[in-house]
Amino acid sequence: MTAGFETLRWREAGGRSPPALVLLDQTRLPEEERRIPCADVESVAEAIESLRVRGAPAIGVAAAYGVALGAWHGIGSGCMRATVDGAVERLGRTRPTAVNLFQALDRMDSALEEAAGLADVEVYHRLVAEARGLQAADADLCRRIGEHGAALLEDGDTVLTHCNAGALATAGWGTALGVVYAAAESGKRVHVYAGETRPLLQGARLTSWELQRRGIAVTVICDGAAGAVLRDRGVDCVITGSDRIAANGDVANKIGTYGLALMARARGIPLYVAAPTTTVDPELATGDRIPIEERAPEEISNGFGRATVPEGVSVYNPAFDVTPHELVSAIITEHGISRPPYAGSLPGPGKGA
Ligand code: MRU
Repeated sequence: MTAGFETLRWREAGGRSPPALVLLDQTRLPEEERRIPCADVESVAEAIESLRVRGAPAIGVAAAYGVALGAWHGIGSGCMRATVDGAVERLGRTRPTAVNLFQALDRMDSALEEAAGLADVEVYHRLVAEARGLQAADADLCRRIGEHGAALLEDGDTVLTHCNAGALATAGWGTALGVVYAAAESGKRVHVYAGETRPLLQGARLTSWELQRRGIAVTVICDGAAGAVLRDRGVDCVITGSDRIAANGDVANKIGTYGLALMARARGIPLYVAAPTTTVDPELATGDRIPIEERAPEEISNGFGRATVPEGVSVYNPAFDVTPHELVSAIITEHGISRPPYAGSLPGPGKGA
């Protein structure tokens, strides 16, 4: 079962065309499948900021290619190092919560160090190779998460998910939805409730789009329906992705996840978080210091071109929240299923369990 679409694709330079990162513009879905070529650092940064590409792993991979584009523009400039440093700095200012972004930028920085003394063109090729490696690794990690997580689902299960943690949010396949896809591949029938995910509707626009394409039964609900759905509609588990996981298992994810976690706990329904270890931040002991992105009030007051809040009324728009580890039944990584206490069981980036 393949996605049938590419969230992001690297296009080599050819003829008079410069290299580009080609993105499926997620702000246009589900109305239109529009691909946009980003040929410089600024267009990649803009795409990340405006959620044309989004989801923690996909942001990391896109930023890595953004650094490679910076190197392309540095060829022959006499200041390759400064140009690439500038790219890393700009891309690091796009979105603060997903740690995958910073891990990817660190990897690109190390690749740049290792290429010190090489000709500019060779530095550029090394950075492209590093970004390609990150993309391939992410696809592989997601597959492994799916295989481990599928064991938690039975034939006929009903899953509630929030936001989009699917192929669109990664280099392919997905984390939370990767679990569903792997279960479906092994012959299990799964029905997914997708919370619409106010204010930008990643659940309604994106999760339902990719599930429908893969023939998985999906029902969209407004976020406010989650409590009643958990009580009345036979939900077996909640599965979400994450943007950053602290060493103790506190989980940052799309705003609304914490509320869902509280409701799931009250109903005795397990909450599983599916994420690669590139989402684990071992430097943060707890979730208290995870930086939470606050986005423009207009996303709430004027989303999708219509005023829905009277002018002058204040709006608070945090993009993420932190769910305390006590509410998380298991964390599924590429290494397997970690159970509480996470401080001992959760593998970190690049490490086994
Ligand atoms: O603001 P977004 O759409 O980038 O938020 C994405 C999420 O919250 C996802 O659940 C998370 O990044 C995990 S994606 C595999």
